[in-house]
Amino acid sequence: MRVHVADHPLVTHKLSVLRDRATQAPAFRELVAELVALLSYEATRDMRVTEVEVETPVATTTGVKISEPLPLAVPIIRAGLGMLDGFVKIVPACEVGFVGIVRDETTLQPQTYAKRLPEDLSNRQCFVLDPMLATGGSLSATVQFLFDAGASDVTAICLVAAPEGVQRMNRDFGDKNVTIVLGALDESLNDDGYIVPGLGDAGDRLYGTA
Ligand code: PRP
Ligand code: URA
Repeated sequence: MRVHVADHPLVTHKLSVLRDRATQAPAFRELVAELVALLSYEATRDMRVTEVEVETPVATTTGVKISEPLPLAVPIIRAGLGMLDGFVKIVPACEVGFVGIVRDETTLQPQTYAKRLPEDLSNRQCFVLDPMLATGGSLSATVQFLFDAGASDVTAICLVAAPEGVQRMNRDFGDKNVTIVLGALDESLNDDGYIVPGLGDAGDRLYGTA
């Protein structure tokens, strides 16, 4: 497993505004989309491509197109949905699967309430979208669904993570081809399972239900 923390002033700047409790849902959604676009650039660095011949108005040259089977984006509903448009803008050729997971507020265990994935994910690069990696329970369950369906190459894009979540992913997938691309690796988790300093409840802030 690999972890890549984006080290770029634009990412840190946008995350700082996102973290601010005064930032309201409309601006929050815009910032999430912009951050996903920036992080997708890093997350797709090893995207599989196939050589193609391109005729320019002047000459013939060699270019690339995204290989088939096409990459699969998998937002974790609900908050991950807020990242989907930003990812699809950068990778319009991708197909989309869905996993719905919510944490039990008391036990912090992930509860899966929806799953709509292609049956066979062998040879398919998968990109999981979820803004928050806290205990790691939700991401670990999702990545396991993908491996169970035959995936062998999974990248997760998260805006903010706690060290506890990264450790959990390392424990579950340390020897697997899993990459986690982060906007920031924060300090810790608090007793309620929230990332500190974090940005609060990403789903509530995206959808105005805080
Ligand atoms: C949030 C977030 C992750 C999860 C992270 O979702 O979007 O899916 O918590 O926590 P974990 O790493 O401890 O599993 P939440 O359960 O609040 O559901 P929501 O997206 O529907 O708001
Ligand atoms: N889920 C969130 O939305 N925020 C956190 O800090 C932890 C889990």
